[in-house]
Amino acid sequence: MSDTDRRWSETESATYRDLSRYAVPQRERQIALIVDRVGAAAATGDVLEICCGEGLLTAALLQHLPVGRVFAFDGSDSMLAATRERAAQSPAGSDRLITRKIDIAERDWRRFEAPLSAAVSSLAVHHLDGPGKRTLFADLHAALAPGGVFVLADVVQPASAAGSAIAADLWDQEVRGRALSLDGNLDGFEAFRRADWNHFRHATLDPIDKPSTVVEHFDWLRDAGFVEVDLHWMTAGQMILSAVRP
Ligand SMILES: C[S@@+](CC[C@H](N)C(=O)[O-])C[C@H]1O[C@@H](n2cnc3c(N)ncnc32)[C@H](O)[C@@H]1O
Repeated sequence: MSDTDRRWSETESATYRDLSRYAVPQRERQIALIVDRVGAAAATGDVLEICCGEGLLTAALLQHLPVGRVFAFDGSDSMLAATRERAAQSPAGSDRLITRKIDIAERDWRRFEAPLSAAVSSLAVHHLDGPGKRTLFADLHAALAPGGVFVLADVVQPASAAGSAIAADLWDQEVRGRALSLDGNLDGFEAFRRADWNHFRHATLDPIDKPSTVVEHFDWLRDAGFVEVDLHWMTAGQMILSAVRP
């Protein structure tokens, strides 16, 4: 298998479901911020979530945005099943949920019968390379209604070795803190260390991960025609930004 053929596996989906409660910094705050940003843009129509994973954000969108459908797309069967199950168990139910298996790099899933009110994604767009992100941002601009918002949470590429070192230390600190506050011990942090997830410490990246810098994201979003491109939160080499289709 060549580097470019490397695909996210179901084993990685299972590991992610085990470790992400520790490994995703300020996860609850991130979800609340994304939902608020979508809600503030008066998202009353359909919302797309790209690579929904196990459906935590999906369930929050369904619960807090009472109108419109949520299109939750992902490439993993087990993640899509987890998303459907979580939504079915949530107070909002799953009547407005539409799931679909996709390859994020393909473009066939980016066309919708009606313009979207919002598009969101968490920790997945970094699986696209630079040109892939540019094309995605242009396709999302085309898919959104005027006034529609794109909210992106993702890992970014620090622009310097010093930036990588700071991101690595901050990420360890965040995971350590989450393990202690969730479980009262460091087992979750040790599992994160054993899994060697802190790629800011790696000399070379896994070819499945292709993070770009914050500035590149801003440039590509503006090039696509987005306005109000804004950074809302960042720590440990991970950011949340939003951009509006005028
Ligand atoms: C790091 S997880 C993030 C999941 C979730 N959005 C979250 O924030 O917890 C990455 C997700 O991207 C999905 N994924 C990875 N590569 C993909 C691809 N080529 N096409 C579609 N989905 C992909 C995985 O199945 C997984 O659900």
